[in-house]
Amino acid sequence: MDKFIVHGGNKLFGKVKIQSAKNSALPLIAASVIAEGKTVIENCSKIRDVLIMCEIIRSIGGKAEFVGDRLFLDTTDVNSWRLPSSLTGEIRASLFMVGALICRFGYASIERPGGCKIGERPIDIHVDALRSLGVKVDEGEEIIFSGKNVNSGLITLRFPSVGATENAMMTALKGKGVTTIKNCAKEPEIVDLQNYLNLLGAKVKGAGSSIITVEGFNKKPSGEISFEPSPDRIELGTYLFALGAVGGELEIETKSFKNLDIVLKIFKDNACKIHIINDKIYNISISGRMRSFGKITTGPYPEFPTDLQPQLVACACSAKGVTAVEEKVFEKRFGYAQELKKFGANVDVYQNLCLVSQSVLHGANVVAGDLRGGASLLICALSAEGRSEISNAVHVDRGYYKIEEKLSALGAYVKRASY
Ligand code: UD1
Repeated sequence: MDKFIVHGGNKLFGKVKIQSAKNSALPLIAASVIAEGKTVIENCSKIRDVLIMCEIIRSIGGKAEFVGDRLFLDTTDVNSWRLPSSLTGEIRASLFMVGALICRFGYASIERPGGCKIGERPIDIHVDALRSLGVKVDEGEEIIFSGKNVNSGLITLRFPSVGATENAMMTALKGKGVTTIKNCAKEPEIVDLQNYLNLLGAKVKGAGSSIITVEGFNKKPSGEISFEPSPDRIELGTYLFALGAVGGELEIETKSFKNLDIVLKIFKDNACKIHIINDKIYNISISGRMRSFGKITTGPYPEFPTDLQPQLVACACSAKGVTAVEEKVFEKRFGYAQELKKFGANVDVYQNLCLVSQSVLHGANVVAGDLRGGASLLICALSAEGRSEISNAVHVDRGYYKIEEKLSALGAYVKRASY
């Protein structure tokens, strides 16, 4: 098992490159099964969740290999619609395989998918969406989806679930007519999936809005498809909140900042200097302490992302005044706050509301309990005076590739050690 050892107090200076979005890469790896051929995902991060999805592809007969930061997938020989529970139990994103397998084989079978322990994480919205198209779902220990003859029609999601929107899009491709999906999630990662499916010959429209239409397709592509997903707005936001916590100046190399408006507004309102150097590089500097962020409420895109809520709270520990954070997506997402208190953080949680105020932070030994909560602990450790240890680094590795190297290159003291 790995842990991070951090000596806090250093400001961050230098250039950091942002990779393709994890939450795009994962459904795209699943969707590559529909291609029945070769796909390359560009600028893809070798994070743990991606590596597990690659294992899942291999376990059903496909190929998945990294060459540098290009992920080569070949799903020509995929021959099974049964997913191995040893792998699907590891990540929630394994659920995306369902829509892709139904589209290709008419069937899919999965045991309860895993993922971060940040709430109940039921799959009823997925199941209801697929049932709307005539897919039969047997919910035992193993969940079997039978959709040899998928109907086209109307799906109305009761909540704009990201994963259910993506599964509905892929399943609807199997129908012969047009399917309309209402109350869709509008996340940029869904636009990436739409664009990829259209490269395969599908006619998907409307991603990024609340209504998506999907027309089934017959035409299979020939040759290799190369696709670069949008930048990882959560990775980017994590570096911004780390900068906000300790100060300094970062050059951020990314294809765009456009999906992060709500986060950037916090920094602009805080008198941080933000310059675009050219189309790809942004320079952000922060001198002195940030002011509190007022009241922040998480919600589906374009609201404040729940996946940046823990990092924002860690940053708010160093900001002047009181910040109130309301979590409206995952009911158990403040679990990490108990660990933040060990640094001396003034954090109080009242069900789905968290109040955080400027704190005198000192080093502490803490345990990461989930991916973004782990990133929050790392940010707190960077701004705390003295030495900290964060165990269970594996959670952080699910979403950040060699984060200790990236932060060290910016002047932070972060080392990885085994225990
Ligand atoms: C995706 C992201 C995750 C992010 C989340 C919300 C990926 C790989 N993961 O997860 O990083 O935190 O969106 O932005 O893209 N829900 C149900 N029933 C369902 C499905 C969801 O009740 O069948 C609830 C969940 O418990 C949660 C809310 O809906 O409270 C949002 O979940 P959802 O949007 O589905 O998240 P994921 O797709 O799992």
